[in-house]
Amino acid sequence: MLPADHPTHRLDASPFLAACRGLPHERVPVWFMRQAGRSLPEYRAIRGEGSILDAIAQPELSTEITLQPVRRYGTDAAILYSDIVVPAYAVGFGIDVVPGVGPVAEQPFRTRDDLQRLRPLEPEQDTPYVLETVRQLAKELDVPLIGFAGAPFTVASYLLEGRPSRMYVATKALMHTDEVLWHDLLDRLADHAIASLRSQVLAGASAVQLFDSWAGTLSAADYERYVLPHSERVLAAIGELGVPRIHFGVGTGELLGLLARAGAEVVGVDWRIPLAEARARVPKGTSLQGNLDPVLCCATWDVAAAGTRAVLESNAGHPGHVFNLGHGVLPETDPGILEQVAALVHAEGVVHASPDAP
Ligand code: CP3
Repeated sequence: MLPADHPTHRLDASPFLAACRGLPHERVPVWFMRQAGRSLPEYRAIRGEGSILDAIAQPELSTEITLQPVRRYGTDAAILYSDIVVPAYAVGFGIDVVPGVGPVAEQPFRTRDDLQRLRPLEPEQDTPYVLETVRQLAKELDVPLIGFAGAPFTVASYLLEGRPSRMYVATKALMHTDEVLWHDLLDRLADHAIASLRSQVLAGASAVQLFDSWAGTLSAADYERYVLPHSERVLAAIGELGVPRIHFGVGTGELLGLLARAGAEVVGVDWRIPLAEARARVPKGTSLQGNLDPVLCCATWDVAAAGTRAVLESNAGHPGHVFNLGHGVLPETDPGILEQVAALVHAEGVVHASPDAP
């Protein structure tokens, strides 16, 4: 149960929350993954040097960075400025985010002893700055705030590889050679995600997104056996709070049904399959989020506009659609193009009253 003064209660008319639930609403909602930061000059002006983890530890700064894209693009939701490695960092695993590289662990996870570096997360003590940012945003925003966490698999991949990876050799090696340790590791990371997401929602987030960005590297069979039970546990724990749950991965066209089955109102779709095809792969009643190829926003406006219209057309007015990119905003994106994409979605997006309308 959410507290009586939770912002969700005054956001009843939010097109974003309605679309997450497949309910009728006025206009197609839009937000952009990685909208906070990256391409915005006003972000670079205040971000400072060094690790993003230092910026995240400053609530005033993180609040302002979260608000910047909402102001500039008129998005229908805000995404908390934070990072998926914050819980592992906060319990002292020994991980940082290196500018231009991404998460780097000096001593990657190798043996059972490394579980000691992953004690339970106590959000009020370990990440008070995240909750302070959420509380400030809950006061200032008039659109829903999306809280988020990394899914156990994607966070595990950083801890095991020690840095961004293409082939996930160490990750798949552990999964297939020591299944018991694999599940113990993912259990701990699922507990982190649950604690983090719960605390974000109770502090004022109105929806959550579970980022399993790199799950697309797995076969459906491996996903189902080694990953699904853990993400399912995370999503079930958050389900009790009653906020919409978005489950996202890249290259997950073959996993969409399983991502929905893990327990999500909304499944993220990358640009590799059209929304109409994605819809056929998830249970009826599941909403979709996506799926403009972010690269199209780095070309001309005509290219971005054609891509945007194709996404709207493929969705065909289904009320269960949150417009987004298929993955995050690329650093070289001209913010002016994203502004125009949001405006075009609002101007031309059509929402039918019922999923079965023509
Ligand atoms: O705008 C938003 O979406 C909110 C903030 C946000 C960040 N990271 C800030 C950030 C969110 C939701 C994330 C999630 C995240 N972090 C994911 C899942 C989303 C996805 O894109 O698939 C992943 C895989 C990470 C891990 C991570 N952190 C990577 C791969 C990088 C990029 C490294 C780089 O510089 O290219 C980061 C750093 C990071 N996190 C930046 C931002 C704005 C960029 C660098 C910076 O400003 O310090």
